[in-house]
Amino acid sequence: MPLDEFRKTNLDNWNERTEIHAKSQLYDIAGYVANPEKISSVVQFDVPDLGDVSGKTLLHLQCHIGTDTLSLARLGATATGVDFSPDAIATARKLSSDSGTPGRFEVAELYDTPDVIDEKFDIVYTGVGALTWLPDIAGWGKVVATMLKPGGTFFIRDFHPMLWTIDDEREDDGALVVKYPYFETPAKRFDSEFTYSDGDKLTNSVNYEWNHGIGEIVMALLDNGLKLELLREHKEAESQNLPWMVETEDKRWELPDGEDRLPMMYSIRATKSD
Ligand SMILES: C[S@@+](CC[C@H](N)C(=O)[O-])C[C@H]1O[C@@H](n2cnc3c(N)ncnc32)[C@H](O)[C@@H]1O
Repeated sequence: MPLDEFRKTNLDNWNERTEIHAKSQLYDIAGYVANPEKISSVVQFDVPDLGDVSGKTLLHLQCHIGTDTLSLARLGATATGVDFSPDAIATARKLSSDSGTPGRFEVAELYDTPDVIDEKFDIVYTGVGALTWLPDIAGWGKVVATMLKPGGTFFIRDFHPMLWTIDDEREDDGALVVKYPYFETPAKRFDSEFTYSDGDKLTNSVNYEWNHGIGEIVMALLDNGLKLELLREHKEAESQNLPWMVETEDKRWELPDGEDRLPMMYSIRATKSD
């Protein structure tokens, strides 16, 4: 199937998810409007490793409905968010105006970002379910490097590629069985009737995803002139990716046995040379 067909299917899926997410308890859009100091739990988790964003220009790749982008703006960044879903960008713009938190939001397919945004940034930020939607991790690394100013910082926290390999449909809960590819391979087709938030069933339930190994992700950055500063693997995930994961006290998700058999997420910080 040509890449454009994968993209069209994924775009239909994401436009529909956007409508569900905007009404969901998980994303709590109303909470950002009611409380101008609300910062997303994703951003709260990331800031200690990301560092101070205040006074910096920041580009958020695959920004979705802007809750993390605007949280970074609330911490003092001049924030721009890009995403290929026009519905997500419209929702993010509305949230920015309803909440009075400034942010620029533009529609851009990831690989077209340099053609849409004619600016270089102090920080490029992304993550939490971003890379699995991209077919070519080397091409993604090039986009990251292109959008950064010399000396700029890149930061990602995303689901661990090892977590994406695990069979999530087994009856014998608890057995971690590798079912899906670890390395970047052709697209995998999924058909999931629900998105990861609370809310209605999806009509456009088919989507295509790609895994990328940790080495492939790191090399995509290094091959494009970035220097690795931090690589951390996390024992907790942002969402319940395997049905038998249990909620932690800080509202994240882990395996029930507490034995930490699998890395759930990772963070990477890297800088572009001066
Ligand atoms: C799980 S969200 C990540 C966002 C963020 N962590 C959040 O939860 O708000 C994935 C985002 O990637 C976007 N996306 C998927 N494929 C894309 C592509 N090829 N180019 C640009 N954006 C894409 C989707 O529209 C969606 O908003």
